[in-house]
Amino acid sequence: MNVADSEVVMSILSDAGHIRTDDINDAGLILINTCSIRDNAEQRIWGRLKAMNYLKKRKKDLKIGIIGCMAERLKEKLLETENLVDLVVGPDAYRELPFLVTEADSGHKAVNVLLSREETYADISPVRMDKNGVSSFVSIMRGCNNMCSYCVVPYVRGAERSRDPESVIKEAKELYDSGYREVTLLGQNVDSYDWINNNKSTNFSDLLEKVAEINPLLRVRFSTSHPKDISDTLLHTIARHHNICKHIHLPAQSGSSRILKLMNREYTREWYMDRVNAIRTIIPECAISTDMIAGFCTETKGDHEESLSLMEWAGFDFAYMFKYSERPGTRAARKYKDDIPENTKSERLSEMIALQNKLSARSKKNDVGKVMEVLIEGSSKRSENNLSGRTSQNKVAVFPGNNHTRGEYVKVLIARCTSATLIGEII
Ligand code: 5AD
Ligand code: SF4
Repeated sequence: MNVADSEVVMSILSDAGHIRTDDINDAGLILINTCSIRDNAEQRIWGRLKAMNYLKKRKKDLKIGIIGCMAERLKEKLLETENLVDLVVGPDAYRELPFLVTEADSGHKAVNVLLSREETYADISPVRMDKNGVSSFVSIMRGCNNMCSYCVVPYVRGAERSRDPESVIKEAKELYDSGYREVTLLGQNVDSYDWINNNKSTNFSDLLEKVAEINPLLRVRFSTSHPKDISDTLLHTIARHHNICKHIHLPAQSGSSRILKLMNREYTREWYMDRVNAIRTIIPECAISTDMIAGFCTETKGDHEESLSLMEWAGFDFAYMFKYSERPGTRAARKYKDDIPENTKSERLSEMIALQNKLSARSKKNDVGKVMEVLIEGSSKRSENNLSGRTSQNKVAVFPGNNHTRGEYVKVLIARCTSATLIGEII
């Protein structure tokens, strides 16, 4: 999400005549795009800001800006307590950046943290910041209307709004024409994508199909799906198109229905299991990944064990796992006590990670002996002689291949695997 936003910001600033530099010592303006989702993300930014003090001391006219979610959440604190910050710009105010930079240059603090009901940056062609030129992100909606009780996103990114499908398709087409072979459609809850024009509605399934139809050589990924909203219609669309990747990121957050209710996720353990069963039936080769939170308010040992048993039952191919981090202003912060001791959270998180390591290894071992289609992204990190790419299921594969290059599809026979990678040969 933040990469996609940074690309929009780059586009707005370069249209206004600013030039990007890779050398921090050359910069006249440094913008730090921030995330507020967990406290440690914010702590890292404070650390980074303090570390930048030396740059400011050396270069008096250097301007530093905080953009994104933290700007939205902490505008006063950023401006008052840290003399370091010259600009504070929230996620819906990026069009104002050229003006705000001029303001900051003339010695004023420049601030805009207004959230919008309409802004989707639909007409802005992002300046791509990825390094490989093969896969890129396309934002299809902004904000979120779900009120998961632990989550700060609806407060810092505002209400949900979908982007005009024509602008999404145009952007994906342009990416394909300039050599990209994979787009990832991004939204906080892609399943609630909805665009109404002339009484005709486009839902996520329609949009996904339209993007897939641009070219069979353009792979389409998407994230994030919400278990309460993911429909069989969508699953059939994924199954129908070879180039829609067979991977669904379906955050469960917890395996306990009691905790899910407190989290306001609007589904139960059984509902989640039903959705996984639907995926397995309609798209048998589909990988499923998840997000899990350890140590949410009132979580008992029994609730935690239900999370572990759900993970084991689903056999997730991959997972992002977090300790619960109370976010000021959220419903959980207002209504529940953050009552699980830090060491218990850490222990539970470690148990989840250990289990997921086992499941991820099992998922890779299952691919040994199979022939997988891989989109080449470049040389492998470890060895220039090997190529690296991903399977439709989003697993990294490494293989020798002198005559092939990034952006090509190859069939790879998987011979073995490490904990992170499939290893094979092109056939
Ligand atoms: N504490 C811990 N994890 C959180 N997430 C969101 N908010 C919190 C929080 N307060 C996690 C969820 C979400 C992912 C993007 O971040 O698992 O799916
Ligand atoms: Fe946060 Fe829930 Fe929205 Fe995801 S769906 S961004 S967890 S409120």
